[in-house]
Amino acid sequence: MSNLIGQVGEASQSKGKLYGIGVGPGDPELLTIKALRRLQAAPVVAYPVSDGGKSLSRSIVAGYLRPKQIEVPLWYPFKLEQSSQPYYDQAAETLAEHLEAGRDVVVLCEGDPFFYGTFMYLFTRLSERFVTEVVPGVSSVMANAAMLGTPLTYRNDVFMVLPGTLPAEVLQEKLAAADAAIILKLGRNFAKVYAVLETLGLLDRAHYIERATMPNQRILPIREVDPAVVPYFALISVPSQWQPE
Ligand SMILES: C[S@@+](CC[C@H](N)C(=O)[O-])C[C@H]1O[C@@H](n2cnc3c(N)ncnc32)[C@H](O)[C@@H]1O
Repeated sequence: MSNLIGQVGEASQSKGKLYGIGVGPGDPELLTIKALRRLQAAPVVAYPVSDGGKSLSRSIVAGYLRPKQIEVPLWYPFKLEQSSQPYYDQAAETLAEHLEAGRDVVVLCEGDPFFYGTFMYLFTRLSERFVTEVVPGVSSVMANAAMLGTPLTYRNDVFMVLPGTLPAEVLQEKLAAADAAIILKLGRNFAKVYAVLETLGLLDRAHYIERATMPNQRILPIREVDPAVVPYFALISVPSQWQPE
């Protein structure tokens, strides 16, 4: 049983609280007021860092950080094929030291923390030991529709979220059954996803967007995308075909 706020269990008052906060898809103005408040009140701010040493979630909130906050970069093995469990174990223990010492810890998460977010791996390791609160964020799914100016779903549409990492045959079967869909985790999976969309005759209906709401956002017709340079922060949206009256 986790110690989510509102369900406080045995966690001692003297321990710090853990916050997983969604920082949205890129535009710093898409942070919620609650996320901003939690961020600025916490003495410790942790965030995932990629192999190149960059942290997207930190860059989103950079303008909101306070001078004396302790920053804890969490080095996750984003590109490793082997188990990432030891890295999350280590990250959780690093944060547990701060929490045991009574310091509140905010963990930044791009988009929403519970929607394919890295925070989930810390949540499962720490929420039984420490009082935990999750602050939802604006997901890339919602940001994409707004940036494209294309409504995603109407009425009884069945909407599907598909990771591009799935095998082609699974993607094809699921996409064929959906009224509208989003395909995440493109990067090197783009060519496979493209082939599936082509097979289903969806290339003209689908939209491609990378780095939605960031200063370097790009929206391209799918046929013009160079598969060799598709970034990780890119997705394809297949909106509903329903025509509003
Ligand atoms: C591990 S998931 C994280 C999703 C995130 N927690 C959210 O709520 O949007 C990462 C995938 O989300 C998509 N994504 C996240 N942010 C994006 C953005 N700003 N623009 C386009 N795609 C994005 C990409 O497909 C990326 O591969």
